[in-house]
Amino acid sequence: MSREENTETEHSTEPAPDFARQLLTWYDVERRILPWREDPSPYHVWLSEIMLQQTRVEAVMDYYRRFLSVLPDLPAFAAAQEPVYMKLWEGLGYYSRIRNFHRAAVLVMEEYGGEIPSDPAVLVKLPGIGPYTAAAIASIAFGVRAVSVDGNLLRVFTRLTADGGDIREKETRQRAEAFFLERMQERPGDFNQALMDLGATVCLPGKEPACGRCPLSGVCAAHAAGHEADFPAPTKKAARRIVPLTVLRIRIGDRICLGRRPDSGLLAGLYELPNLEGHLTEEEVQAFLTREGAGVPVREILFLGEAKHVFTHLEWHMKGYEVHLEDLPASADFAARKGWTAASPAQVREVFSVPAAFSAFLS
Ligand code: ADE
Repeated sequence: MSREENTETEHSTEPAPDFARQLLTWYDVERRILPWREDPSPYHVWLSEIMLQQTRVEAVMDYYRRFLSVLPDLPAFAAAQEPVYMKLWEGLGYYSRIRNFHRAAVLVMEEYGGEIPSDPAVLVKLPGIGPYTAAAIASIAFGVRAVSVDGNLLRVFTRLTADGGDIREKETRQRAEAFFLERMQERPGDFNQALMDLGATVCLPGKEPACGRCPLSGVCAAHAAGHEADFPAPTKKAARRIVPLTVLRIRIGDRICLGRRPDSGLLAGLYELPNLEGHLTEEEVQAFLTREGAGVPVREILFLGEAKHVFTHLEWHMKGYEVHLEDLPASADFAARKGWTAASPAQVREVFSVPAAFSAFLS
């Protein structure tokens, strides 16, 4: 038998109860204290899992508390108006999450009598819930045996088994799911969350894993071979498209002009600072105002600097200018013609949802 086959045999026959016991014993002592773990009701777990899609735990905590202080349960959320829940999401990004979450909440109220389904196969049919989130909600809120496979879990899996598969491929995910499902016997929610915590705090990417603190290092094939950093196998990433933008903070007195983005596409329906594709010089900004503003009284134009915002598939490389218009009717007419709202600082803070992509130029 070759060395490789031998390794595989050793690691695939390690008894499942030992694996679960080691993992859960570790979790009972080392788990992160997180607000959604205090009272894992289905609504709490659902909200936390939607917020945690594409957003780090540390960034979610305050948003999670604030959201629940305003919308404490599913009926309150389902009945809330869009500006209320959009404002509570402002800065978290990926705004389709909150829109889908609201649509799903209304659906659960109307079609399931307000009872959040416990079956992952049913959950996954709701807007905004994919297989990962369905398994997380079902296991954490309802104790259903379902594995929530994400990047962290895949890293743990590929190391434990020295699996060289591409983690973006369905087959690798299926192997990971089968591996953990076999070992998940009791406390499915804790089992999943233990793997999440292990991936986030111990089995770190690259050359960083803290195997000395890992409850599973004794059954880890990559650790046995000293090859932790080789897993998961590198994948080719698609390059993000770079979009150069010129962002204008247009002030009329103490008010700031905000545009509304189209109802579909990136940051759909949110408010924004007016912006133009390309990097404009101060003279070109002036020319834009002369052309579009037809005599709008410009007091001054100031360069605010540069900023970058990274989305999943593209990057905005922004240059910002502050444009000070005289506080005269011609300025208000110009804003109205462009469809902009001149918002007071309090309205910018409390009423209009402006995504974090613009925050470098808002303060
Ligand atoms: N990431 C996604 N869901 C999580 C959870 N329940 N706990 C910690 N991190 C998570």
